[in-house]
Amino acid sequence: MKIHETITGLRSALKDAGRVVLVPTMGNLHDGHIALMREAHKYGDTVLVSIFVNRLQFRPGEDFEKYPRTFTADCERLVAAGVDHLFCPVESEMYPTPQRYYVEPPAELINILEGEFRPGHFRGVATVVQKLFNIAQPQVAVFGKKDYQQMLVLSNMAHDLALPIEIIAADTVRAEDGLALSSRNGFLSPQERPEAPRLHRLLEGMRNAILAGERDLAQLERAAMAELQAHGWKPDYIAVRKQSNLQRPSTDDASLVALGAARLGATRLIDNLEI
Ligand code: PAF
Repeated sequence: MKIHETITGLRSALKDAGRVVLVPTMGNLHDGHIALMREAHKYGDTVLVSIFVNRLQFRPGEDFEKYPRTFTADCERLVAAGVDHLFCPVESEMYPTPQRYYVEPPAELINILEGEFRPGHFRGVATVVQKLFNIAQPQVAVFGKKDYQQMLVLSNMAHDLALPIEIIAADTVRAEDGLALSSRNGFLSPQERPEAPRLHRLLEGMRNAILAGERDLAQLERAAMAELQAHGWKPDYIAVRKQSNLQRPSTDDASLVALGAARLGATRLIDNLEI
């Protein structure tokens, strides 16, 4: 695997790389990321991974400083996964001057759900991903459905701005007990870890109820929030939305997704399940 810290170095290495598939990450790689890399191999000749903890998508007081940085272990995992190139710029390479131009996703998509609790987050994500696209000029990019709203923001961005990039949405990878793999799982205490799959189980329960004909979605959402609270969680939201745009569904809408975000101790977990 070739490692590039500069934009010029990366660009010259990719000159004859054929069809490039980019998997953007913030590092601290786990099996969920590695599944994205396996998926990436199916779509092109060269798999490029980026590791960059993007300050623009964190608010003051969020976990930017303590976001786990595990570069050596990440490199070992990337080599084992057959990744061809790694782009790992330092902050001054990505943001040599304070970023003044931003990608502004539509309010109706970013002021809800995650965006309601993390104002500015998706603007920071869309901006850095657009910048990574400009730097690497991949033909394909792979994102996980674990961050469902992010995946939608980015695929809409590619469509709306006519980017010549195919966006692949890859399935969420779960531990045996159903917990969605996430870099933040490492923050869970040994006592919290067995409790953490409750979020997934609740979303599954909602999905089963809807598939069995339940149409009172607000009641399902309230019941799931109450169950989390009863077990010591602090839920931000539990919501059933349309897959296409994350707006509230009407009674005859199909293709739904149940999404949730909740704090277990100091760790904020998110998950979702398509219905
Ligand atoms: O999902 C992530 O790890 C980040 O939001 C991304 C897409 C790499 C942008 O910084």
